[in-house]
Amino acid sequence: MQIAIVTGASSGLGYEFVKQIAQKKKLDAIWVIARRESLLYEIAEKLSVPIVPITLDLTKQESFSVLQALLKEKKPDIRILVNAAGFGKMGNYAEISFQDSGKMIELNCSALVWMTSLALPYMTRGAQILEVCSVASFQPLPSLNVYAASKAFVQSYSRSLRWELFERGIHVTAVCPYWIKDTEFISVTKKDANSQAIKHFPLASRAHNVVRAALRDSKLNLPVSTPGPIAFLLRFLTKFIPHEIVIACWEGFRRL
Ligand SMILES: NC(=O)c1ccc[n+]([C@@H]2O[C@H](COP(=O)([O-])OP(=O)(O)OC[C@H]3O[C@@H](n4cnc5c(N)ncnc54)[C@H](OP(=O)(O)O)[C@@H]3O)[C@@H](O)[C@H]2O)c1
Repeated sequence: MQIAIVTGASSGLGYEFVKQIAQKKKLDAIWVIARRESLLYEIAEKLSVPIVPITLDLTKQESFSVLQALLKEKKPDIRILVNAAGFGKMGNYAEISFQDSGKMIELNCSALVWMTSLALPYMTRGAQILEVCSVASFQPLPSLNVYAASKAFVQSYSRSLRWELFERGIHVTAVCPYWIKDTEFISVTKKDANSQAIKHFPLASRAHNVVRAALRDSKLNLPVSTPGPIAFLLRFLTKFIPHEIVIACWEGFRRL
């Protein structure tokens, strides 16, 4: 049984990945993971490819035992794994709660590693792993500190894993988008936050375009996908401009 697994599938990028994978790949099923069960069942109704809704909170350790048992039972051939579940909180060290910081690290980093480690025994040559990262991984970002640090982890983890998996012929790509306007991410990030922390999200991209570029780049086994011109420009600039200068620019820009 050839399948794809997509986390964070109930909205935003995850949902868009499910739609585009369903159009582009001939698979027996797509396993979709998130907490909001009703949204997962809605996807199953909307798409023609068989969807297997798996309602899990990926910040809970027992979720991975459930998944491990399911994989052992079904023994699928996982052709694509997309780790899109993730969230951010804006604010400084004193404004973001200890719990939120911990959950960001659990979901954005630990859950992503757990998912990847669980899936790898069921992946063979030509399979693809897309780890959803962010342009926030390119440099530290005050007022998105823990989020940016969690994405720096994702980028580093994905790039090393890609080399480790060369011999097995499994593709690994860190997908690093700039702001996206048509997902729930920005509203979740702003919720309960000081409205002055980040005032504007200019030139934000769209989920459809981000996912299309990410799937193309994964096929090419690029280590990092920067979907869209702004993401590409930020990647380029942060390679050549010292990080302290980039951070100073960000500090001015976010207050405009
Ligand atoms: N949108 C942007 O501007 C942007 C830019 C760069 C990178 N990204 C990255 O893109 C990824 C997807 O974000 P998005 O823009 O698609 O935002 P989104 O619409 O808020 O999607 C986040 C997904 O994660 C799931 N999720 C959240 N907490 C979870 C948990 N504890 N367990 C399981 N699933 C959980 C949510 O589903 P439930 O609530 O149903 O669990 C939802 O499906 C994230 O990793 C984010 O960091 C986003």
